[in-house]
Amino acid sequence: MYLQTRRVRPCGSRDGSRISAHGKLYVQAIILWLAFALVARDARAQEPCDLCAQNWLFILGAGGRTGSTTALSMFRLVPHVELTGEHQGVLNGQYEMYKRLAKMRHTSVASAGPRLDMDGFRCVTQELVRVMVFGKRRASEQSQTRIVGFKEIAYTSWHMLSFLKFTFPCSRWIFSVREKLDVPVKSNFNATRLRLEWGKQRLLADCVHKAFPNTIFRLAVEQLSVQVYNDALHHLLGVRNCSFKGILSANLDGKFSREPDTEALREKQTERARREYIDGDCDLSNVSFRLSSEHLEQNRVLWYALNAEYQSRLRNQT
Ligand SMILES: *[C@@H]1O[C@H](CO)[C@@H](O)[C@H](O)[C@H]1NC(C)=O
Ligand SMILES: *[C@@H]1O[C@H](CO)[C@@H](O)[C@H](O)[C@H]1NC(C)=O
Ligand SMILES: *[C@@H]1O[C@H](CO)[C@@H](O)[C@H](O)[C@H]1NC(C)=O
Repeated sequence: MYLQTRRVRPCGSRDGSRISAHGKLYVQAIILWLAFALVARDARAQEPCDLCAQNWLFILGAGGRTGSTTALSMFRLVPHVELTGEHQGVLNGQYEMYKRLAKMRHTSVASAGPRLDMDGFRCVTQELVRVMVFGKRRASEQSQTRIVGFKEIAYTSWHMLSFLKFTFPCSRWIFSVREKLDVPVKSNFNATRLRLEWGKQRLLADCVHKAFPNTIFRLAVEQLSVQVYNDALHHLLGVRNCSFKGILSANLDGKFSREPDTEALREKQTERARREYIDGDCDLSNVSFRLSSEHLEQNRVLWYALNAEYQSRLRNQT
């Protein structure tokens, strides 16, 4: 997408001798390449990036202890799916930055500058998430990956979901929710506050799931079954020729699972779990989350209408 930096030998030939016929061709090729690169860069400047180029998947917990870690463990087992776990909700900070930049009025010379290019900002945010997902292994892994994303429990608020919806307009989401709220919680949690949060976030998850049933999946922690996971795998993601045959449950029942310390050990553990929990050879060659521009426009209108409905239901609940 972006111009690759290339190492160009500074200024001319190595030994200062006259340029040969080959050399001339070489120089002409470089000039042509530069011309094309400049034209291509101008084209990109007008259209910062294709926000639907990547198949984004977000596993969003409607509060903690809703089964989102189990979902993360399961979908990470699928080959060509690259998901990162919780990351301290740093996109909340990205949203704050977005708000400040969008609000800026460049009224004085000291604050001279253009209005925020919103699509440009969205591209940068997608790029940030790619950096978080792939780390240093991006060069080797990105090309083999069909679905990219994360799991986080810090984004189930109206403004953050809106930020995600418009920054990743073709993304698919899995919401983990808790239906029964009167379960015992650990003594170091404030049970009243936790249950209030669960209730509020479940209402939000239900609202958006109902409005977008094909692209937002609802996973209730009380009703986890292999069948439900396979529904998500086949219908939400469009993965073919394989299915889950069990639920990787190290994190269920309030136990916190430990990640192995080294990359090699993690890789080995994933391979073992893959054999144990997945049947068949997963085929992701036809996976595409892309939506038509008409569909995207409909979604935008629907999203704004949803806000009014959610706010009124929230008032009725509390
Ligand atoms: C627990 O949370 C509730 C609701 O937010 C609050 O009213 C209450 O004071 C909190 N209790 C403690 C012990 O912090
Ligand atoms: C997936 O399954 C279909 C039908 O069962 C088969 O035709 C196709 O070759 C399979 N694809 C892969 C990549 O195995
Ligand atoms: C792949 O998906 C496209 C539409 O997204 C569909 O038209 C095509 O038939 C699919 N190919 C296979 C082999 O299922």
